[in-house]
Order: sequence, then C-alpha cells, then structure tokens
Amino acid sequence: MTQPALDLVIAALERIREKSDRAPRASRTALARLQAPPVAASLREACTSPTEQQLQAARNKADLLAAVRERVSACTKCAHLACSRTQTVFGVGNPDADLMFIGEAPGADEDQQGEPFVGRAGQLLTRILKAMNFAREDVYIANILKCRPDIPAGSFGNRPPTPTEMQTCRPYLVEQIDIIQPSVLVALGTVAVEGLLGTRATMRELRGRWHTYNSIPLMITYHPAYLLRNQAPSEKRKVWEDMLQVLERLDRPISERQRNYFL
Ligand code: URA
Repeated sequence: MTQPALDLVIAALERIREKSDRAPRASRTALARLQAPPVAASLREACTSPTEQQLQAARNKADLLAAVRERVSACTKCAHLACSRTQTVFGVGNPDADLMFIGEAPGADEDQQGEPFVGRAGQLLTRILKAMNFAREDVYIANILKCRPDIPAGSFGNRPPTPTEMQTCRPYLVEQIDIIQPSVLVALGTVAVEGLLGTRATMRELRGRWHTYNSIPLMITYHPAYLLRNQAPSEKRKVWEDMLQVLERLDRPISERQRNYFL
C-alpha cells in the first residue's frame, strides 16, 4: 500500500476507536505495523547496507589474507627471484570482493611500489574498472607470480614467468582465491591462464566465453598490455564485450551508455 493510502486507513481506524464504543479491529501493534516503512524500502536498505555478518566475514578474510601475505613476503622458493626483487607484490583490493582479476607477474613499477597493476597496463585496467562502475578497492587484483621475473643486469623491460616459476608460486594464488571466494574471476592474458589452469591456448580460442576454475565462473580476456601494444578499436571492443559479460554474470546494472562503450 502507498503511504497516502496507509495514512487514510490509519486515520479512519483512529477515528473509529475514539468515537465508537466498540474498539476498531486494528490493535495498536497492527497500527504500528501499518506505519512501518513499506516492505520495498526496508528490503532495499537490507540489500545495500552490509550486515554485521558480512562485515565480520570481510574482517576474517582480511586476517586470513594477511597471514598468507606474511608468508609470501618471506618466500625464497625461487631463490633467483628472492634475490632480484625489491619486494613481493601480494595483491590489492577488497578481501570480500565479488570480482577478482588475475594478471601475470609484477613489472618494474609494481616491484617498486609493492602493488599489482600500477604501471601503464595497470592504469588501463583501472580505467576499464571505472567504466564498469568499479573502483580498484571494490575488486581484488593479484598475479600468478608474486615476484618480478628477473632480467639480466643492465637490460630493460619484463620477461614472462617460466612454467616452473608459475607452478612454484601458484599455491599462494590458490589460497587467495580460496579465502576471497569471488563470484567471478577474470584472467588477463594467456600467461595468466596457463598459470591458473595449466592450459596453453591462444586468446582467440579462449576469450569471450565462460570457463571455470574450481566451480567459479572464469572469464578470459586480453591483458591490458596487449591493448597498449595494439590500439585497434576492434581489440578494445573485444575486451569490453568480455567485461559486459562479467557485469551480467554479477547481476550489475548495465546502462545504455555502457552497452555502447568503446574502451
Ligand atoms: N602486468 C601484470 O600481469 N601484472 C601486474 O601487476 C602488472 C603488469
């Protein structure tokens, strides 16, 4: 019932109670209930503000992640990487995120700052997130490797992680996913796919459709670094179409503007 209609009913019942000998058929409790906010409004509030239980779950997950981070920061399983790294790069974002992105390995900027995806590719990822109506703090971002792959002294750029490095580091990522339990995973690039699933395939074969990791829906798309190298609108559109599928899977509203968006 709408509020004006409710007000009329309540006023009529109160008049009956005041004027007649017979009590109206609505008790004070029933009147109070009638005056309570409409169900839709209280439901909306319950759906948007986190419950104490959800807050506690997030705190527990943050504690569990902190314990893994501690072990990662002292890890020397790949002695060559432990020697060359500035620091480990664990992961960043909401420990209770619905959406988790998985990249390859830290580059020079990430190694310096201790945070994944902060260089040029990371800035593009942040723009993609923004177009999806997410902030970096809403999602969780991690890599297969927690150390920057070493490169010969005096050389520049990054090298991809080796299969052995990925196998060695993978258990940390598995722990992160197990703790966060996201509703959707996104793997960025074929190296991330190889690290996570052990599958070697081309992006043409992999992207644009749903896969699963441990029963979690997994979308595979191009690494943002690929989009920086290949600025063709067709490639950017492919990534955006993959992200639209992710939004749909998460039941997030998609505006007309987002549907027509080109990265
Ligand atoms: N590329 C990745 O795969 N991960 C990063 O953290 C940065 C660049």
